[in-house]
Amino acid sequence: MPGTVGRGRSIQSVDDVLALLDQLFDERADRWSERGGTDFWDRFYADRHRPVPFFRAVPDESLVAWHADGRLPLGPGTRVLELGCGPGRNAVWLAQQGCRVDALDLSATAVTWGRERATQAGVDVRFVRTDVLTWRTDRPYDLVVDSGCFHHLPPHRRVSYRALLERTLAPGGHLGIACFAAGHDGRGGTEADDLDLYRAGGLSGGLAYTADELRRSLAGLTEVELRRMRTVTSGDTFGEDFLWAGLFRR
Ligand SMILES: C[S@@+](CC[C@H](N)C(=O)[O-])C[C@H]1O[C@@H](n2cnc3c(N)ncnc32)[C@H](O)[C@@H]1O
Repeated sequence: MPGTVGRGRSIQSVDDVLALLDQLFDERADRWSERGGTDFWDRFYADRHRPVPFFRAVPDESLVAWHADGRLPLGPGTRVLELGCGPGRNAVWLAQQGCRVDALDLSATAVTWGRERATQAGVDVRFVRTDVLTWRTDRPYDLVVDSGCFHHLPPHRRVSYRALLERTLAPGGHLGIACFAAGHDGRGGTEADDLDLYRAGGLSGGLAYTADELRRSLAGLTEVELRRMRTVTSGDTFGEDFLWAGLFRR
């Protein structure tokens, strides 16, 4: 609950510290933060007709390319987890390849939209409204997909994100990630230092990463490919060149 962490002498564990740091951003949610709970994202998805490039119901060009060149084998029985799935454009495409897909998002509006898209496409996707960082599974996944979620996490949650990947990614499994790239004059998110984000109490619309910063954030995984996404403005796929497209293997 915003406002309760840190009262009195309540900080007693590492989890308490992480929750306290979350609150530095959440308390300013309306003014600053894109991760400030579900309200921001519910408002973001309320009008489906806004010209947001990733509202088009098509998958990332990188996922399609990795599947086509055989580096990312997908098919019946492939277990996939999508983090921050939004209205499910990747999740639906993955289900169309025969995968069994669990798709998570903070926003109820996005999840509802995703379920409608899956029904229209005639595929099964298990959409769940939840914070990805709390997700637990008995059986790890062959593929974890993250298209634009990681870069909305505050710096201290990189630690939680790595733990999430350890919990959810099977040995030999893949992570396919799209993430704001540094070097795009703000188009690809802020390049402000972590320290300055805490001082400002905001994430400035998402964090840009250099290639090495992203690799470091995903330490423990083996890089298969890390490149800029290819810009795609129409057709069957989505792509923006201010994003990294990364394929990593556990
Ligand atoms: C830039 S949007 C991308 C949506 C979708 N992946 C796509 O590309 O169409 C980022 C998404 O991440 C979700 N998100 C951010 N932080 C999250 C968290 N901690 N847990 C679950 N979802 C989260 C937001 O609700 C939002 O839908």
